[in-house]
Amino acid sequence: MKRIVILTGAGMSAESGVSTFRDSKGLWQNHRIEEVASPVAWERNPEMVLEFYNQRRKQLFEVEPNAGHYALVRLEEKYEVQIITQNVDDLHERAGSSQVLHLHGELKKARSSADPYLIYELNHWELKLGDLCEKGSQLRPHIVWFGEAVPMIEAAVKLSTTADIFLVIGTSLVVYPAAGLINYVERKVPKYYVDPKASWVSGISGMQIINDKASIALPKLVDNMLQKISTKNL
Ligand code: APR
Repeated sequence: MKRIVILTGAGMSAESGVSTFRDSKGLWQNHRIEEVASPVAWERNPEMVLEFYNQRRKQLFEVEPNAGHYALVRLEEKYEVQIITQNVDDLHERAGSSQVLHLHGELKKARSSADPYLIYELNHWELKLGDLCEKGSQLRPHIVWFGEAVPMIEAAVKLSTTADIFLVIGTSLVVYPAAGLINYVERKVPKYYVDPKASWVSGISGMQIINDKASIALPKLVDNMLQKISTKNL
C-alpha cells in the first residue's frame, strides 16, 4: 500500500468554526497568540493562559469535523494514511482518521507542570488554578508553546521521509519546525498544497497548488486519488 503523509494546520478546521491564528481574528483580547502561548506568559499570568485555553476547549466541544476531515478518512480505503497535524483540536480523530500525530499538543489533555509525562484526558472544558496532578503540581494545557521544544518532531520527520505522496492542508507554513517537514520529503514524491492563500511553495519540486478551501478541494482530490488506485488495479 502506498503511504500518504498529510500535514494539516488551522485552515483544516476553519470551516468547522475553529478560528485560525494568523487571519484577521487571530488576536485574543488584544494579545498576540505568541503572548498567551508561552512559558513566560504561564509564569507571569497562569490564570490568563488557562482562560485562553478554556475558551478554545469550550469551543471545541461545540464544533464538528467538516467535509475536508471526512474526505481524508476515505483515503484509508486504499492508502496507508498518516496525518501530522499542527492543530490541537481532535477533529481528525472524531471524523474517523486512525493515525494522527499531534505536533503541537492536544487541547483535550492536561499535563503536570512538574512532570511532562503525567498527561490526563479532560472530559470537561474548564481547567482551573488549583487543579493538580497526582504529585500535587498545577495542571497546565498539554500544548507546545512558543519557545518550547517539539517532542514529536523527530517522529514527524521520519514519517515525511517515507511518504509516497505528501499533502499540505491549511497552514501558512510560517511556524517551524513544522514548516520544515516538507524539506524531508523526497524530490520525486508528488506533493499537493491545499490552501486558499498558498503561493510561496511554488518552487518546491513536484508541488501542485490547489487554491481552494479544504471542504471544497479535498473531496475532489480524494476522489481522484482513489480513482487512480482503482484504475491501476484493473
Ligand atoms: N481551507 C484551507 N485552508 C484555509 C482555510 C480553509 N477553509 N481557511 C484558511 N486557510 C488557511 C489560511 O490561508 C492560512 O494559510 O489556513 C492557514 C492558517 O494559517 P495559520 O493561522 O498561521 O495556522 P497554522 O499554519 O496552522 O499555524 C501554525 O502556529 O500559532 C501556532 O501552534 C500554532 O499550530 C499553530 C502554528
